[in-house]
Amino acid sequence: MPSTIVTLTLNGTERELIARPSTTLLDALRETFGLMGAKRGCGQGGCGSCTVLLDGRPVVSCLIPVVTVDGSAVETIEGLADGDRLTDVQQAFVDHFATQCGFCTPGMIMSATALLDREPDPTRQDVAEAICGNVCRCTGYEPIITAVLSAAARRRAAARADV
Ligand code: FES
Ligand code: FES
Repeated sequence: MPSTIVTLTLNGTERELIARPSTTLLDALRETFGLMGAKRGCGQGGCGSCTVLLDGRPVVSCLIPVVTVDGSAVETIEGLADGDRLTDVQQAFVDHFATQCGFCTPGMIMSATALLDREPDPTRQDVAEAICGNVCRCTGYEPIITAVLSAAARRRAAARADV
């Protein structure tokens, strides 16, 4: 099959690439656009290290042919911070030591970000379910869950202060 021109909004900016049918979204992010935050772990949809947001929903980018996301919005870990200013979720991961080797961290943060965007007051179970597709070999998950709950609490407090 011939290559196709794909247009997508990547971290808020319209970008274009020429893709073969076999090119995954993860390939495009890392190899075409040089965004190395999403990691290639298993390459089979099982570890979540390649998680990004596709039109606001977390997806494993290693399983998605990039030609299928033409016209979509993709957000990666690189699109979250505002300069040196981390998002509340990123800051909570730092504050609660929720990252060790860091390989799972971008995917974890994208899954957590999607959760808090749709559920401002998640339960512990909600957080566990939101990150159940993200494998972490280092932390034992507890600090990650604590970080996400803490970010949610901080975001709710900030929203109350704004009223
Ligand atoms: S690299 Fe995509 S799920 Fe493991
Ligand atoms: S921090 Fe090492 S895999 Fe999660």
